[in-house]
Amino acid sequence: METKTKQTGIAKLEIDGTVFELPILSGTEGPDVVDVSKLYATAGVFTLDPGFTSTGSCESQITFINGEEGILLHRGYPIDQLAGNSGFLEVSYLLLNGELPTQTKFTSFANDITQHTLIHTQMDRFFDGFRRDSHPMAMLTGAVGALSAFYPGAMDSSDPDERYLAYIRLIAKMPTLAARIYKYTIGQPFVDPQNDLSYAANFLRMCFAITAEPYKTNPILARAMDKIFILHADHEQNASTSTVRLAGSSGAHPYAAVAAGVASLWGPSHGGANEACLNMLRQIGDVSEIPEYVRRAKDKNDPFRLMGFGHRVYKNYDPRATVMQKTAEEVLGELGIDTPVLRVARELEKIALEDDYFIEKKLYPNVDFYSGIILDAMGFPTEMFTVLFALARTVGWCAQLNEMIEDPTQRIGRPRQIYTGPATRDFIPISERS
Ligand code: CMC
Repeated sequence: METKTKQTGIAKLEIDGTVFELPILSGTEGPDVVDVSKLYATAGVFTLDPGFTSTGSCESQITFINGEEGILLHRGYPIDQLAGNSGFLEVSYLLLNGELPTQTKFTSFANDITQHTLIHTQMDRFFDGFRRDSHPMAMLTGAVGALSAFYPGAMDSSDPDERYLAYIRLIAKMPTLAARIYKYTIGQPFVDPQNDLSYAANFLRMCFAITAEPYKTNPILARAMDKIFILHADHEQNASTSTVRLAGSSGAHPYAAVAAGVASLWGPSHGGANEACLNMLRQIGDVSEIPEYVRRAKDKNDPFRLMGFGHRVYKNYDPRATVMQKTAEEVLGELGIDTPVLRVARELEKIALEDDYFIEKKLYPNVDFYSGIILDAMGFPTEMFTVLFALARTVGWCAQLNEMIEDPTQRIGRPRQIYTGPATRDFIPISERS
């Protein structure tokens, strides 16, 4: 990847009377950055930014977020245009390659994916090692890492062809793994992929078909699934993507890096929020209980938070939530569902958006607020929600990992620290310690 940043100014930092000049760099969109990469070498100090609230970790040409205005672009295209007009595989091509495909390129890419949907039969034996009640994310973390055992060529992440094959395999096999995990937890036989179906329809079939009966795809549900995948495909340098980049920066192969991303995604502050959100809506149970939960969310002494609200970057409506809300209405309309959970969600959103605490802190519904409701209506158990997020995010992780590897300035990621432990002291033999 060729750098596209331009130096547009100089920042001056004065430390004990000495002035250090730091380049100010501009990208295509978004705030400028102060380049501190040479600061330690020239000034002998580090910068400190726990949680990376003011720190860019890389140059990237994949995804742009304007949190203040609620904008999300993939390779320049707004997310609502992609979700409205495109399909998940087309967006995958865009994320990986930088441009929307021509028909010929798309056909070839979709072919590559469908030819890799099967998993090695030995992989199926992995699942038997898990308890049936294992969390699906525990199984997914293990299964993705285990894939590498079947493709030794992928160990060389410096080979672009091997890397590409690993990305194709990961994107192709994720639905198969996710569906097998679901089937394993409910004790049903695995359903193999059917490659003449779309990516999303094939996934729904592998999850919900029963080998003893014919299965008919519901096109509205398949389109909704596809949209959910698009809305989760990439999201700039979030925790799991940064984990993938950091893991891959050591030269670890794509399966290892993506397995690290899956593990990072699991947490309730990140990909686990959709599961936590639906559990919360169920716990609230009835519209009459909402004021009490809103009160608790505002109480500093209560650790309770409104799941599905707030975002590190979006200080406006999450643009993915807008599409997700519309999709939820479509799916629930199609299925003729009007559950207490949906009523609680609608009312909670209304109350929170009018509440001073949420207005002041700019806490808006995020993508996870409505995604859980759709997935629940489709028949997925809550424990599977984060697995579906991981499935969709795999392409983003691959695109970001590849961009990092192709960046000629790439080095192993190695943050520093400010040490506040004991200063140097001499060892005391155990017999002399009090
Ligand atoms: N409910 C109540 N108060 C909240 C919430 C919430 N959901 N989110 C943030 N706040 C408050 C928080 O208490 C803090 O208040 P104060 O300044 O008085 O201490 C203030 O808002 C800022 O919060 P923060 O934790 O410093 O913000 P952050 O950027 O570190 O955290 C977040 C972002 C997403 C982890 C957080 O908003 C949260 O925990 N939300 C609920 C979990 C959730 O829905 N996560 C999904 C994120 S979207 C999917 C993804 O990208 O993975």
